[in-house]
Amino acid sequence: MNDFKENILSGRVALITGGGTGIGREIARTLGNHGAKIVITSRKQDVLDGAKKEFEKETIECLAMASDVRNPEEVEQVITSVIEKWGRLDIVINNAAGNFPALIDKISYNGFKTIVDIDLMGTYNVTKAAYTAYMKAHGGSIVNITAPFEHWGVSYQSHVAAAKTGVESLTRTCAVEWAQLGIRVNSVAPGFITGTEGEKRFEAVKVENANLLKGTKQDMANAVLFLVSDSASFISGVCIRVDGAVGVDMLKIAAV
Ligand code: COA
Repeated sequence: MNDFKENILSGRVALITGGGTGIGREIARTLGNHGAKIVITSRKQDVLDGAKKEFEKETIECLAMASDVRNPEEVEQVITSVIEKWGRLDIVINNAAGNFPALIDKISYNGFKTIVDIDLMGTYNVTKAAYTAYMKAHGGSIVNITAPFEHWGVSYQSHVAAAKTGVESLTRTCAVEWAQLGIRVNSVAPGFITGTEGEKRFEAVKVENANLLKGTKQDMANAVLFLVSDSASFISGVCIRVDGAVGVDMLKIAAV
């Protein structure tokens, strides 16, 4: 639920990577409920099919296509199919990501590389393919889901912080290089969001966050909806933190 008018994305087509579960699913549903046709991708077709069924009950038009953001050929295939079917691709949400809490010396080389490959290379692969196949000629809006880790050291998150900070940098450069083409590129950085895989994975790690608010998947979707809507038509190259202030809480001192 939100206060935005219905159909503000009417006639548009939106691709959401990692759109079968968690925050990505809520973003897909929200963009769909505001008029966009939705394409969701992830590695598991059965998960995507479940989400598609749910969306269709809400009369959202949805394509569900298994693909791995790490594989440029698979990504290009998805984007070609979408443009063949619906003739356009106005919005891309780079949401697919991997995460596990681990200290630097406990992460294997392949573990660190895996997160960089999914988060940073995956975002690059999808962004480049969407730009080349459609947005270069028609404009569009891209939102990258990142993390509020850019300016601080964050224990247990060296791999994710490095990858997501790379995505923040890529966001700004894409915004600058493509502004003249009518392509806006922004990011949304979530803090603690309830009911997510991320929340589950961090249960094992003590996080001093007693003084912080907790967000919902809908909070994330609302920020994304604003950024891809025409109300944000002069906003590009920015990050909106949806994190209840965790990203500016340097000392992480719990309230007493
Ligand atoms: N702790 C430490 N290392 C881990 C790990 C953990 N919890 N989970 C995976 N790894 C390491 C693996 O050991 C492997 O390295 P190795 O070959 O040196 O042993 C490497 O990461 C790749 O793991 P693998 O399971 O083969 O990769 P994958 O591509 O199938 O999965 C992950 C990627 C690791 C990110 C997986 O957890 C995933 O797909 N998650 C998606 C959902 C998610 O993370 N959501 C949270 C978002 S906040």
